Amino acid sequence: MKLKILVIGSINYDLVVFTSRHPAPGETIIGSLFQTFPGGKGANQAVASARLGGDVQMVGNIGQDGFGEELLDNLRINQVDTTLIQQVNKSTGTALITVNADGQNSIVVVPGANATLGKEDIQALRKTIQSAGVLVLQLEIPLEVVMQAIDIAYAAGVIILLNPAPAMSIPPETLKKVSYLIPNESELALLSGLPTDDLEGCRRAAQVLLSRGCNQIILTRGDQGAFVFNQTGEFFVPSFKVPVVDTTAAGDAFIGGLAAALAEDMDLQNALLRASAAGALAVTKAGAQTSLPDITELDDFLKKHKQEVKSQ
Ligand code: RIB
Repeated sequence: MKLKILVIGSINYDLVVFTSRHPAPGETIIGSLFQTFPGGKGANQAVASARLGGDVQMVGNIGQDGFGEELLDNLRINQVDTTLIQQVNKSTGTALITVNADGQNSIVVVPGANATLGKEDIQALRKTIQSAGVLVLQLEIPLEVVMQAIDIAYAAGVIILLNPAPAMSIPPETLKKVSYLIPNESELALLSGLPTDDLEGCRRAAQVLLSRGCNQIILTRGDQGAFVFNQTGEFFVPSFKVPVVDTTAAGDAFIGGLAAALAEDMDLQNALLRASAAGALAVTKAGAQTSLPDITELDDFLKKHKQEVKSQ
């Protein structure tokens, strides 16, 4: 049986400039292209899961504006249940993104409506959270909202995925309740208080979080693959080598892919292989939700590339 996936998170309108390099402070440079895309870590992860076969419902806030309408339509087109998305009296969240020639991005998020999601909204959704199979969260909505959703889900035995992005400190009692904590290196550094410049540093940082009671840490390291750290040891999840166009939402594709696979009761190693393939495919195209693979693309890609990861 397929478990229901509930994503509680941000919905943003991405305003993206493509440039040869990121500007230095105080510098003006000329970009090559401006485009807009549906984005927001929450919405990206919801769409990523839905495109990979997940039964996904999203909770989040948008504004009563054109951006919000467009984003809502896009979620519906992608088979995400939007009945719990509220339109509030604030501007829809936006993200100002610069992508350089290597596909690396820098992002400024203006939360707008995302910041209006409150604890009372989560309280009203208690039953929905309790009946979800997998809960997916990030940190582009207020932390207290995330913490409350985790408390409810944990008490009900729901599988909880937390992507601690953007990085901020999280109380250990919340981290203990998360089934899979999925940071990148800079998020792991902030959470642990240790440098994560190399693999040994990452291992030490992960150990700090494990000693504080974290269950499983899935560290995403881009083209360096991912590492799982838990109380019994660690294992490596290889990355796929692909041409990089735009890394935006690669992490979201990974998390959405993982959620979809876990909702189908796949074992963790195979679920992570699918997540890694989803992340790889996402970097080959421009934009956030525009870059997320569907199930056919993912299966074809895995058929072609599985051998490559076996040799790593
Ligand atoms: O993870 C990528 C996302 O981060 C973008 O879509 C942007 O909206 C920001 O939330």
